Amino acid sequence: MLDINKIRADFPILERKVHGKPLIYFDNGATSQTPTAVIDTIVDYYTNYNANIHRGVHTLSQEATDKYEEARIKIQKHFNAKHSYEIILTSGTTESINVIASGFSAILKEGDEVIVSALEHHSNIVPWQMMCEKAGATLRVIPMDEDGSLRIDLFEEMLNENTKLVFCNHVSNALGTINPIEKIIENAHKFGAYVLIDGAQACPHIKPDVQQLDVDFYVTSAHKMCGPTGVGMLYGKQELLEMLPPYQGGGEMIDTVTFEKTTYAGLPHKFEAGTPNICGGIAFGAAVDYMNAIGFDNIQEREHQLLDYATKKLLEIDGLKIYGTSTKTSVISFNIDGIHPYDIGSILDKLGIAVRTGHHCAQPIMDFYKIPGTVRASLSFYNTEDEIDTMIEAVKKAKMMLS
Ligand code: ALA
Repeated sequence: MLDINKIRADFPILERKVHGKPLIYFDNGATSQTPTAVIDTIVDYYTNYNANIHRGVHTLSQEATDKYEEARIKIQKHFNAKHSYEIILTSGTTESINVIASGFSAILKEGDEVIVSALEHHSNIVPWQMMCEKAGATLRVIPMDEDGSLRIDLFEEMLNENTKLVFCNHVSNALGTINPIEKIIENAHKFGAYVLIDGAQACPHIKPDVQQLDVDFYVTSAHKMCGPTGVGMLYGKQELLEMLPPYQGGGEMIDTVTFEKTTYAGLPHKFEAGTPNICGGIAFGAAVDYMNAIGFDNIQEREHQLLDYATKKLLEIDGLKIYGTSTKTSVISFNIDGIHPYDIGSILDKLGIAVRTGHHCAQPIMDFYKIPGTVRASLSFYNTEDEIDTMIEAVKKAKMMLS
């Protein structure tokens, strides 16, 4: 059992007030909050060893380089990658996806097919559309069902010898659906297609093992899992990362440069042009340590309690509908009959409660349900039943005011 009070004390922001009310933070799907251990890591970096990495013989540069590479190894171990150089540090999930989309733009050809799921965030749709446009490939979509799950039966029918790539999120950001990625990977591999899994919304709740999954690419962002914004990860199998061209040219990604010909550095540097988010990378490592110290079994158990509690209470409100009811993480997307989600969100904010409203960068899901958006409460292990009770009362109040 987690000691919730002790855990909450790790997050200084949870002490603050919003509009004179204690903050209730239910927008963890957009970004998680940051524990003192991670904040201290950031302060320590800028206070004691702020320097550029892989470049200097001086002590500060060497210290920063060591810490950055230590963080890469922490991330490698967390995801159980075979080699640390299979972990590319990026600015986040979106950049990680763009690295792969850009690389395959040069490899795919007309007639090739790529498959995405209907449950994707725009960041796992638009880069592939751009890639298909460049390469002349065709984008196909795995349809979704009313309960927010994917039609895996139809996915299996879509696969053929022209399928080259499959993209799917591990967990839907808008609904919280946990997708059967093991099945997706296994089936795609039968046709020789590579699979990229967007883990941005899964990694705060689940510890993926990339070798066990046999996934080709897995991407995520640090800020969903107690780390800072502006840093994330691209895992790729060594042979695939070696096959793909670099994403950006610049310093650090080269082996030799002359005006006649440049040769590229090996992994991971080939994909890390320019000065990276050094402090962010080191803090990402600290966030991984923090979450592992709490333990993902404990996190999941606690978040399931919160999800069940909040779902039951919300469904007691007349006219309230929850979208996405299949197996999921602690995300509740809902609407109340005849009320715009934005209006509910605004009233909740006045009462100190942070939720996300809108299409959640997943317009195709909203189109499927024929709604403009939802109110999304995304819960984390540091939330409490008392906070949920306060939100329930606030939703009831909003309903009364807006009906
Ligand atoms: N993708 C993030 C969310 O779902 C920002 O809120």
